Formats: sequence, structure tokens, C-alpha cells
Amino acid sequence: MSALPQERRLVTEIPGPRSRELQARKSAAVTSAVGTVMPVYAAAAGGGVVVDVDGNSLIDLGSGIAVTTVGNSNPRVVEAVNAQVQAFTHTCFMVTPYDGYVRVAEELNRLTPGAHEKRTALFNSGAEAVENAVKIARHHTKRSAVVAFDHAYHGRTNLTMAMTAKNMPYKHGFGPFAAEVYRAPMSYPFRDAGTERLGVADGVTAARRAIEVVEKQVGAANLAALVIEPIQGEGGFVVPAPGFLPALADWCREHGVVFVADEVQTGFARTGDLFACEHEGVVPDLIVTAKGIAGGLPLAAVTGRAEIMDAPHPGGLGGTYGGNPLACAAALAVIETIEADGLVDRARAIGKTMLERLGALQQRDPRVGDVRGRGAMLAVELVQPGTTEPDAALTQRVAAAAHAQGLVVLTCGTFGNVLRFLPPLSIPDHLLAEALDVLDGVFAEA
Ligand SMILES: Cc1ncc(COP(=O)(O)O)c(C=O)c1O
Repeated sequence: MSALPQERRLVTEIPGPRSRELQARKSAAVTSAVGTVMPVYAAAAGGGVVVDVDGNSLIDLGSGIAVTTVGNSNPRVVEAVNAQVQAFTHTCFMVTPYDGYVRVAEELNRLTPGAHEKRTALFNSGAEAVENAVKIARHHTKRSAVVAFDHAYHGRTNLTMAMTAKNMPYKHGFGPFAAEVYRAPMSYPFRDAGTERLGVADGVTAARRAIEVVEKQVGAANLAALVIEPIQGEGGFVVPAPGFLPALADWCREHGVVFVADEVQTGFARTGDLFACEHEGVVPDLIVTAKGIAGGLPLAAVTGRAEIMDAPHPGGLGGTYGGNPLACAAALAVIETIEADGLVDRARAIGKTMLERLGALQQRDPRVGDVRGRGAMLAVELVQPGTTEPDAALTQRVAAAAHAQGLVVLTCGTFGNVLRFLPPLSIPDHLLAEALDVLDGVFAEA
């Protein structure tokens, strides 16, 4: 448990004077192209709180965008990283390797879905790992095309920008983008429900629609990989209708297409399963992980079928820092914590509590069009009452009011109208309840 008092405590307005001073320095020193959700500068964090430089203690419902799943400065992570930093900080795994990297690979091979023989490669960020999954799939299949989905988010590097759907702010003005990336329609139950004439409200039919687009516009014989987030993250916490993912995975298997699950945001207990594709028993050929893998240290991985992972020539994959020893030590501590502290169950319990409260909010407030998600990855989609017309302005108002009252909450969604919740699994029950009370109040006044 964190040594920080687990309380919401506001001692200044938000942001306070020291944060405002730092924000002025940020504006003068840091490119304005790198934004901040809340201009509140962190001094400490742990359990379920972020303490700022003015002494305010905020309830954390963001986990640094789904990263500190085991809690910020988790004691096991701190101890493991401290021990590693004393031993050595870097040799480069491609120069003189070390066992932390091998152990993380063994753990990922053990924990990811499927009993087949697997291999793993480690990288630094989610985007870098997604890029490498595509490289591996292309080498294995000797095909070039890649399919991503509407509302997808896979990162901000050149290839992953091409795969990411939303123009603003991720892509605008940054092209030209990588070639041979195609887009297929996603299953988005809240928005598909009003389109019965398309008949895509059920997952299998929605998958057939996507497959038809791919077959007509790309051709299975040209397709190296189909890359999908089992629950979409930045695109709006879109949970596809049951049957969608299994139907896509089956089609990929039938046509020799590598099925890649991007579990960068959903992985490592976040959704109440260790990995979100387990919910429907989907076994991806390659699975991409990052974020929650290492408790805040930069680490990412591609794990998958040995014959696919071993397809590229020796030396074909790597990078100076990939699988850095400090990040590997952190990842091993994260995995131990998830297992020892029963965090998969904890994510389910958090999900149950939050879904009840958010469901009650939806009953009272017709602007809450949809409540969705799984485990500790939940969201509300805000609309004009009685329609699916997005209300981005309300979403911004609600988020700003929540921030002012000491909640760290994030927004997302193609239409900017989704309020998302990603609490650390170390958040105590009383803080979670308080956060939900604050949200109720914010909605009542927005
Ligand atoms: C599903 C998904 N894939 C890839 C990425 C990119 O990860 P990173 O920001 O570590 O490059 C993200 C980041 O939000 C993500 O949510």
C-alpha cells in the first residue's frame, strides 16, 4: 500500500499557484504541440491519489492513461527497480544480454492466450511494438497490406499514425503516411443499434461487413495483418458486439492473415481478464502489450506464435533501449503483483461497483447515452438526449468540473464525447466511492 494518505484534499484552487507557475515555465520551454489534460504538476502518487506541488491530493481515475495499473510507485516495483539500478542500468540486450529480458519474455509467453509455442521481443513504447508486429507479420506472410479499424488508435509514429483513425490531433498536417494501410468498419454497438437496416448490431454480422470491405478493397492474398484493439481505447472505449472478434480471428486463420491484438491499453488485468481477448476466448497470432506492463517504466512487447516471431532474419529486430533492464525488473514485479494481489479479480470488483453507479447515473440523466467497458476500463458516452448525437461540449464541461473538484479524469472518442475511467487497481474502495459521488454532483450541475 502507498504511504500517501488516501484522501481527496483540496488546499488551493485547481490548478494551484505553484502549478500555474510551472505551467508558465512549460509554455516558455516545452513545445505547445505537447499538451496536458490537467495543468496540475505532480509531486507524488500512489494507491488511488496524485498529490500535486501545491499539496492538493487528487483522486486518480486515469492511471497515467492506463499505465500504473498496479499503483504508482508500487512497493514491489520500487524495490525491484532500486535493486536493478544498483546492479547495472544498461548494457543493450543486443550487445551483452541479461536475464531480466529473458524472464519477461518467458512470463509473457506463459501468460498470453494460447498454449502454442511462443516467442517475445521487447521494445519501448506501444507504437514501436505495433510497428514491429507489422514488420514481423509482413516478413512471415511476404504480403504488405495491413488492416486497421474505424476509431482505431495505434500510436503516433509514421506507420501507426496511418493505422490510427482520428485526424485531429493525431494526424493533421503530419502526412504523408505509410502506404498499404486500409481501414475496415468497426462493431460499435451504441452507434450500430440505430442502423437496423445495415443489420450489423450483432457481432458476427458486423464482422461480415468488415470482411467484405477487406475482401473487396484489399484482397486476403495481399493482407499481412489485421490489427485490432479488443476494446478500443482512444477511439471511445468501444466494446465490439459479442462474436465480432472471434469471427475476424477465424477469417484470418482461414486466409493466412496474421491476427494482431493490440492490447496496449487493455492488457495486464485492466479489463478484468489478464488480456481483453480472453473474454471471448480469442487467441491472437501476435499480441502487443505496453502501458500497464511495467508500472510506469517504458516497456512494450510483441508476443506470438514462434513460427511467425522467428520469421525475420537474425538481427532484423531490436533497438538500443528495447527491454531496458530497469523496465524489465519493473515488469517482473508488476506480474508478481498482479498474481499475488489478485488484481484480475480486483479489476472485476471495481467494474461492478462503477457499472452500478454509472448505470444509475444513466437512468437519471438522459445525456448519458451509453455506459460501457469492462473491469476497470469504463466509459460514458454523452449525447443529446434521446439521440446518438455526440455532445462534446458537455463532455468538456463535465471533465473540467471534475478536475476542479480534484478528480483526474480523461476524455476520448472519435467525437470527443466520451468520459473514460481507468483507476489504478490499488485505489481503495472509499476513494472510488467518493470519486463516483463527486461525478454525480458534477453531472447534476453540468
Ligand atoms: C491501443 C493502443 N495502441 C498503441 C498505443 C500507443 O502506445 P504508446 O503511446 O506507448 O506509443 C496506445 C496508446 O494510447 C494505445 O492505447
